Amino acid sequence: MKLLWVGDVYGAKGLESLQRFLPSLKRDHQYQLLVVNGENVADGLGIRLRDYKTIMSLGAHMITLGNHGFSKRDVLEFIDTGNLVRPLNYPPGTPGQGLRIINYNGMRMAVLSVMGRVFMHDPLDNPFTALDVALSELEVDRIIVEVHAEATSEKLAIAHYLDGRVDAVVGTHTHVQTNDAMQLPKGTLYMTDLGMTGVKYGILGADRDKVMHKFLTGMPTRLQASEETQLQLNAALLDFSAQTIQPIHISD
Ligand SMILES: [Fe+2]
Ligand SMILES: [Fe+2]
Repeated sequence: MKLLWVGDVYGAKGLESLQRFLPSLKRDHQYQLLVVNGENVADGLGIRLRDYKTIMSLGAHMITLGNHGFSKRDVLEFIDTGNLVRPLNYPPGTPGQGLRIINYNGMRMAVLSVMGRVFMHDPLDNPFTALDVALSELEVDRIIVEVHAEATSEKLAIAHYLDGRVDAVVGTHTHVQTNDAMQLPKGTLYMTDLGMTGVKYGILGADRDKVMHKFLTGMPTRLQASEETQLQLNAALLDFSAQTIQPIHISD
């Protein structure tokens, strides 16, 4: 069974990238399951109902979030009922779920997300212990975990902590794909960051001139989604039968 796991989809151009590249990826790799990080789909910050519907209409089984998951308040209207996973280690009482199940052909796959705490500004609970609690109660066929974090060390530490206990751990959030897809010693498939899906020549999905202006002047600058027409899609292809993970990068 194959799963395509797509990194942070940024803005309308990110949706356009999905529409442009998913059909050929589906044809070439014959994946059955699709998981998409959608924390940046609403102009870089959050997700609206229409974005959610567009991603689901493209075949997604689950949409994961991250530190920008709640940036558009619309999400509160559908986060509890939709196929959405926000980081598990938000404090008790936070809307949404950090763990959801995909049912596919009689197989139950748990999708979990945690957010890192190194160089991140959200006051979240410890991701390691949050995962311990969640995994202790879980009886499913497969378990996959997304680590939404800045520090590569924290992502690796969580991955090795989970090695042999879950089927896969992949990272998101940095928007730059890493070249380290591998099987960990106890069998878990791993990759530090899936990368970003959106414009090819922006800066992490945003308009490059706005980002450069911010660095050059030190002035607060409202970032905006880039309107570049050349696109890219970054993802990982996981094959649970062959126990392999391979990076996917496709662009204009
Ligand atoms: Fe992101
Ligand atoms: Fe993020």
